[in-house]
Amino acid sequence: MKEKIDQLKAQAAERITSMTKNLQELDEARVQYLGKKGELTALLRGMKDLSKEDRPKVGKIVNEARAQIEALIAERKEELQKKALEERLASEKIDVTLPGRRPDIGHLHPLSLTLDRIKTIFLNMGFSVEEGPEIEKDYFNFEALNLPKDHPARDMQDSFYITEDILMRSQTSPVQARTMQKNEPNAPIRMIAPGRVYRRDEYDATHSPMFTQVEGLVIDKGITLADLKGTLELFLRQIFNENVGVRFRPSFFPFTEPSAEVDISCVMCHGKGCKVCKGTGWLEILGAGMVHPHVLEMSGYDPKVVSGFAFGMGVERIAMLSYGVDDLRLFYDNDKRFLRQF
Ligand code: DAH
Repeated sequence: MKEKIDQLKAQAAERITSMTKNLQELDEARVQYLGKKGELTALLRGMKDLSKEDRPKVGKIVNEARAQIEALIAERKEELQKKALEERLASEKIDVTLPGRRPDIGHLHPLSLTLDRIKTIFLNMGFSVEEGPEIEKDYFNFEALNLPKDHPARDMQDSFYITEDILMRSQTSPVQARTMQKNEPNAPIRMIAPGRVYRRDEYDATHSPMFTQVEGLVIDKGITLADLKGTLELFLRQIFNENVGVRFRPSFFPFTEPSAEVDISCVMCHGKGCKVCKGTGWLEILGAGMVHPHVLEMSGYDPKVVSGFAFGMGVERIAMLSYGVDDLRLFYDNDKRFLRQF
C-alpha cells in the first residue's frame, strides 16, 4: 500500500511541476488526483478493506500524501499565475514614444464659406443681417407677401404645414415683412436675411427639400430699379468675377412689381453654350424686383413715401457654380473626402 501511495505521489509531483503549462491544466491534474473520483481519493476509499490496525497508519500516509500534493499544486499555481501575468504585460505593452492619434481638425462647411462671402459683400455695402424663424406663420410666409390663401402662385411652395397657420418656411421672403413690421413705419431698410427654407421637392443633383437662401430688402425714399440693377451687378461681379455678364429678364413674383429673373453668363463656358447652361450661355442665379406697393402697405410702409427693391438667391447654387460642384447632395452627405477639399 505504501509503495502504491509513494508511486502515486511521485507521479502527481512530476505531472504538477513539469507537465502543466497553464492554470487549466493544473486544475485538470488536481481533479485527477484529489477530485471526488481522483486516484488518491480512490485509495482512501479502499481503506475499508484494510485491517483495523493498518487503517490509521495507511490513513496517515494518504493524508500526508494529500497535503504534499496540495502544497505542490499551490506552489505551481502561484508560478503559473505569475507567468500568465507576465505574458499579459508583455503582450499589452504600450509604446509611450509612439506619436498620438491627432483628432481631425474641422473647418467651415463650403456652404458656410459661401454664405460668409455673400455676407461680407453686402456688409461692405452697408447692409445689416436679419434673421427669421424657420417655423413660420402662414401670414408672414405668404399672406403678407401678397399671396392670399388660394393664390395659384402658392402651389410651387405649398409644402410642410405644421398646422393650418404654421409651416416650415418655404422662402426667406417672410423676413421682409418681419423686418418692416419691427421698424417704425417708412424707416429705411438695407438688409439681407440668410437661412434655411423647406419645400416639397425631389432629392437629386439639383433639388433638395431643404436648402439655403439669402433674401435682400432695401427700402428708402427714391429707391429705383437702377439701384436694384447696380446693387445686384456689383454683388455678382464680386461673388463670381469682374467680367461676368449679367442679364435681367422680366418675370413674376407676387411680392414685386416689376419682377425680374437675373442671369449670369455661364461660368463654365463663358457664354459659348455648354452642358451646364444647357447651351444657352446663361445661368439663372436669382429673383428680384421692386417691392409691390401692397406688400409695403400691409407691413405699415407708405408706398407714396418710400419705395424699395428685394431679391432672393439660393446659396447652394452659388456654391456649386463657384466651386464647380455638380451634385447638390454632396453638401449634405458629410463625406469628409468631399469636405476636406474646401
Ligand atoms: N422668394 C423667392 C423664391 O423663393 C425668391 C425671390 C424672388 C425673393 C424675388 C425676392 C424677390 O425677394 O424679390 O422663389
